[in-house]
Amino acid sequence: MRHFLRDDDVSPQEQAELLALAAAMKATPYDAKPLAGPHTVAMIFDKPTLRSQTSFAAGTAELGGNPLVVDGGLAGIGRRESVADVARVLGGQASMIVWRTFAQAAVEEMAAMSGVPVINALTDEFHPCQLLADLLTIQEHKGELAGLTVAFLGDAACNMGNSWALAGTMAAMHVVFGCPEGYAPDAGVLVQAEAMPGGSVHVTDDPVAAVAGADVVVTDTWVSMGKEDEAADRRVLFSPYAVTSELMAHAKPDAIALHCLPAYRENEISAEVIDGPQSVVWDEAENRRHVQKAVMAWLYERRGVEPDE
Ligand code: NVA
Repeated sequence: MRHFLRDDDVSPQEQAELLALAAAMKATPYDAKPLAGPHTVAMIFDKPTLRSQTSFAAGTAELGGNPLVVDGGLAGIGRRESVADVARVLGGQASMIVWRTFAQAAVEEMAAMSGVPVINALTDEFHPCQLLADLLTIQEHKGELAGLTVAFLGDAACNMGNSWALAGTMAAMHVVFGCPEGYAPDAGVLVQAEAMPGGSVHVTDDPVAAVAGADVVVTDTWVSMGKEDEAADRRVLFSPYAVTSELMAHAKPDAIALHCLPAYRENEISAEVIDGPQSVVWDEAENRRHVQKAVMAWLYERRGVEPDE
């Protein structure tokens, strides 16, 4: 049984296959119906959501399936009943499970116990669906991924930082994190990323050095879901890493700017950048649906197949 819980749950070659499948599905969105039946995809959100819920629901319907949105507050997974019990119940109702929650260990337990493919729709540690959307968007605008330099500015010690380190290097990109000391991606993830053939990772606390010559500039909120208590301190700490037109001027002239949204204008990104000509954030948001359709179709096709078979 294959799952998509972290960026490296697929090989670099499989990542490229998923991107190609997503591009094909985007070209003809209503042709592929692998979930016809309809098979139900249960999607649970323990944290706020706009893009994940709508893109998974619309994408499931486009694949011929039945999107079943489960209210995480009502379900109370891990509080009202254990992850293992919920996994066995949902595995009996749905052909696939999509879950946004806090701990990565929880989605791993769901995957181990449910008997159906599980997709991580964001945890504190990783956001692998967003990374596929980012990569598809970059591929569309730059024509290729391998060899490009990506600067990630701001809070790199979050799900997006970890996922960029893994998925970016898997795509043979050079990923530079510009972040304050202590806010780099997870040390173990960086070691893994350093070992990816073709790609590289580098961490600096100098925002100008981070974006110098970059093809792609990426940022994310400074206050990830669950960190709201630290908001005031974070606004001060991360302010030198704001993606402004002045900072973008150090990147390549044709650099593009990405943000997974929600965006807080004049904090991590200026209105001038996110609403300006270098921004590709609306393509990036739309691409969530196309890449997740590819992931759902791909996992569904491989249900019951072990990774090394
Ligand atoms: N790092 C952000 C990503 C939002 C899609 C968060 O976890 O809130």
